[in-house]
Amino acid sequence: MLLENLARAIEGDLGDEDEIIVTGEHEANAGPWKKLAKRNGLELRYWHATTIEGSSNPYAVAHDVNTLLPLITENTRIVAITACSNILGSVVDVKSVVKQIRAKAAEKGAKKVEISVDCVAYAPHRKMDVRDWDVDYAVFSFYKVYGPHIAALYTRFSTLPNLTPLTHHFLSPLVDKISYKLMPGGPGYELPYGVTGVLEYLLSISPISGPTSSASLKDTASIYSDPETHTRLEATFAAIARYEHTLVKRLLEHLTSEKLAKRGVRIVGEETASERREPTISFVVVNGETGSAISGKDIVKVFDAKGNMGIRYGNFFAYTLVDSLEPKVDVNDGLVRISLVHYNTIEEVDQLIEVLDEALGPPHILPALRPFFIAGQINVKKFPLEKRLRAPQQDIEDTDGHRRNRANIHAIFDVSNASDPPDNTLSTTSETTPEIPRSRRNIRESKTGNTETVSILTMIRSTCVHPITFKDEDGPIHDIRYATSGLLVSTATPLSGD
Ligand SMILES: Cc1ncc(COP(=O)(O)O)c(C=O)c1O
Repeated sequence: MLLENLARAIEGDLGDEDEIIVTGEHEANAGPWKKLAKRNGLELRYWHATTIEGSSNPYAVAHDVNTLLPLITENTRIVAITACSNILGSVVDVKSVVKQIRAKAAEKGAKKVEISVDCVAYAPHRKMDVRDWDVDYAVFSFYKVYGPHIAALYTRFSTLPNLTPLTHHFLSPLVDKISYKLMPGGPGYELPYGVTGVLEYLLSISPISGPTSSASLKDTASIYSDPETHTRLEATFAAIARYEHTLVKRLLEHLTSEKLAKRGVRIVGEETASERREPTISFVVVNGETGSAISGKDIVKVFDAKGNMGIRYGNFFAYTLVDSLEPKVDVNDGLVRISLVHYNTIEEVDQLIEVLDEALGPPHILPALRPFFIAGQINVKKFPLEKRLRAPQQDIEDTDGHRRNRANIHAIFDVSNASDPPDNTLSTTSETTPEIPRSRRNIRESKTGNTETVSILTMIRSTCVHPITFKDEDGPIHDIRYATSGLLVSTATPLSGD
């Protein structure tokens, strides 16, 4: 909203030939400029993320200044960049990029170039310095920096006279000065007051000790202007960067390991850890040598079921970035993102890795069934006939004593020649009750085109986490824990004669 306000305020200061450059990233930092360009018939250019040189992973992309500079012409008026993508996690060297933009613009003869920087994904991890960077505008959100749900817009003082006031006309001539210029109405008070706690918090974790709040100083205003505050903040963020590096290293090393690469895991963003790499780590799972593609939604589901760790999937509103990835990914399912900050621990990263390995599929079912899985579903028609056994004719009973009608269980796939050893089972303490998809409705919901697919992965998982033994009068039929000896599938379609 702040950038939308800013774009509206700048609108009166634009020429017909002006051009705008935006980062192909979060829509909050692109949408307002795109709309501004459209309203005024101006040319809009995108600074897209491109594959990092030397990388064999096409999704290892970053914003490279060398692809930005050729977009600058004599008509460039606004360049809206990001300090860090909320997906890629790599820190843009804003100071250097701004310097190069200004030098290129001067070389091209551009008359007035203003640079706006989106720091929302940057500010929780690194110290902003708008003056040192030499930017005209900057935004960040306090709720991402351990504060209340409110955002901040910085404008260079000298830009203000040329901005059109957004506030009520009768507040003029006050608005012609400064404070109300970008404020459409009256200010809120509670949230801005809450913001003061952010500085206290950041100083409280600084390796350089000292007062944390203005209340503890004799001169109450001085904490903000005291150079010592800035030195201590520098130290806070340097410590954060060093510490976060250990988290990023552990997680990236796992995600880029040979095992996960074979499984199809591909980092979206920079693959190597460094202090210029934030712990915002995104990935997709494509068809690999040892497993097929798996949707972000299915991975996140496994984490949600555990309940003590939250990771998310989607495009995270960086629609343009996700949409521009090649090979294409589903822009709505998008990718999986793991977001860590300085209060996360290495132990938590290890827990995360454990759950992730589980989410990537129980290893024991994979070698035998992999070719028949499509995005987490087994393609029944592709499953070879010789591996299908007829369903048991008797009613069966699970260990909880619930009777299952044989009509609900149409086949047991014999995968006894699978190459994995039977002790390769998942073990967990989850008390999840196994759910067998019983109704025809379940099956119909999972129809994809002409291919009858059965949503089976959840069932396998639940049978693995809570083993059940199906029995008939002669004793157990199959212990589902051992998926190598039998995999039970419920399907509404006849299995023979396709
Ligand atoms: C890079 C980036 N820019 C902008 C935004 C939007 O910020 P807000 O939620 O304060 O509108 C976000 C939010 O996640 C973001 O990550």
